[in-house]
Amino acid sequence: MSRVAYVDGQYLPHRSAAVHIEDRGYQFADGVYEVIAVVGGRLLDDERHLARLARSLAELRITAPMSNAALRVVIAEVVRRNGVRDGIVYVQITRGADPRAVDGGVAVIMIPDIRWQRCDIKSVALLPNVLGKQQAKEAGAFEAWQVDREGKVSEGTSTNAWIVTPNATVVTRQADSAILDGVTRLAVLDIIRREGYNFVERPFSVVEAKSAREAFLTSTVVGLLPVVKIDGVAIGNGQPGLLSRKLRECYLTHEAAAK
Ligand code: PDD
Repeated sequence: MSRVAYVDGQYLPHRSAAVHIEDRGYQFADGVYEVIAVVGGRLLDDERHLARLARSLAELRITAPMSNAALRVVIAEVVRRNGVRDGIVYVQITRGADPRAVDGGVAVIMIPDIRWQRCDIKSVALLPNVLGKQQAKEAGAFEAWQVDREGKVSEGTSTNAWIVTPNATVVTRQADSAILDGVTRLAVLDIIRREGYNFVERPFSVVEAKSAREAFLTSTVVGLLPVVKIDGVAIGNGQPGLLSRKLRECYLTHEAAAK
């Protein structure tokens, strides 16, 4: 009997059962799963598995793609088509493909950094980042800045974090194992050196961030974006800061030069 898998509404031969390359499960581990035993052709402890699946989905704020009743039908059909009497069935649900975009000055919230100790590796194990971004979205913010146990900001969930102090010094955390050394971060540091602005690479605290003159964030996807609000507190006068705007211009020039 040939193997069959159910993917996105279709029962497919196992060899051609695939998810799209843009699927966030593949890209960011943004998904959940269950493994259920099949004993004598029946599912073992399926109530508990489905309850845990629902809980995992709810924690990630992923909407279940079908009801539990429908999922039971699909599972039963996969088991039947594969002729399994004793074995296991693997259920995986991801957020699917979800596009992202922005511009203008953005709001940020502060959240605890619950990630591991090798954030310098650009790994696809991004579930804590995904949860943080979701929390930001629910709070009406663009990004969440993650805060380490010492009360210092490490970085955003998909961006590096920067502030400008009241005495006009640009501050971003040094590239230790708590952050990803962003390529945009390095390009912006080059620009800052070239333009002769004061800067220092060191951790900064939540309190310091909220009383900063300016703040901004960087990544390949957004370039350099001014941050105008942190946890509801306006940064500076609540508008993109002068230095942030200058650096953004320089970064756009750097981008344009590559064309
Ligand atoms: N994110 N920090 C984290 C945790 C990131 O995921 C990223 C990148 C950055 C910025 O790195 P760079 O400047 O090289 O893009 C910092 C990418 C853009 C993403 O997965 O969306």
